Amino acid sequence: MARWTALRDGAVLLDGFHALKHALRFDAHVATALTSDLQAVRALADELAPDVADAVAEAATEVPAAVLRELLPRLHPTGIAALAARPARADNLAALTRTPRTAPVVVLDNPRNLGNAGAVIRLAAGFGATGVVTTGTLDPWHPNVVRGAAGLHYATAVEHLPVDALPAGPLYALDPEGEDIRTLELPDDALLAFGSERSGITDELRARADALVSLPMRPQVSSYNLATSVGMALFHWSAAGWSAAGGR
Ligand SMILES: C[S@@+](CC[C@H](N)C(=O)[O-])C[C@H]1O[C@@H](n2cnc3c(N)ncnc32)[C@H](O)[C@@H]1O
Repeated sequence: MARWTALRDGAVLLDGFHALKHALRFDAHVATALTSDLQAVRALADELAPDVADAVAEAATEVPAAVLRELLPRLHPTGIAALAARPARADNLAALTRTPRTAPVVVLDNPRNLGNAGAVIRLAAGFGATGVVTTGTLDPWHPNVVRGAAGLHYATAVEHLPVDALPAGPLYALDPEGEDIRTLELPDDALLAFGSERSGITDELRARADALVSLPMRPQVSSYNLATSVGMALFHWSAAGWSAAGGR
């Protein structure tokens, strides 16, 4: 408990088994994990993620339920939480700016909803995107974003940057007024930018965009959800380079 209290301020909270599992799979340094039922966590690991079961058991310490509740009043239903080191910003920036880029960077322009941002990071990890950059005030490493992403921050590069410091590369801004995405191929070095839930792409990002791109949508529907839009655009990118023999 003392270790948890000493570490938690500078660390990333992995809330629940799935976040811990993904963080371990993608080489996070997990400093400590707490549960009040080690046997149940072991059983869960054996069932859902035998590849990291030993690492989970090694990281986890059993503490009384009352102690756990005091530290984590809204404990995840899987009954475990962990603290991990946040990757160095310099390493993330190096990954985001490395060329040649083999997969797009997703840019969220002033997103507002923590759950949406997490869902986008999960998509980016699944599609093997180079990373996710947010502009604006939202912290992309906020515990609720990490929870929404199921800990997949560690599978891609996640950073916050101002618009004028975005990585180089052709910027495609997703906007319902743009050119139909089905008429173009998105290059591997693209920046795919998405606007905020409430007000869409900012003027600043619009000015930096090389193209405005729309997702097919019938009239009278105003827009798609942010994370859904990211999923469609990444799928479109992945489908262009896909081959049955080698994947992407
Ligand atoms: C919920 S929408 C924003 C709606 C906002 N009221 C607006 O004026 O754009 C969030 C983001 O998802 C993307 N998006 C949603 N529907 C889209 C569509 N049909 N075509 C392209 N992008 C879309 C855009 O990047 C948009 O800024």
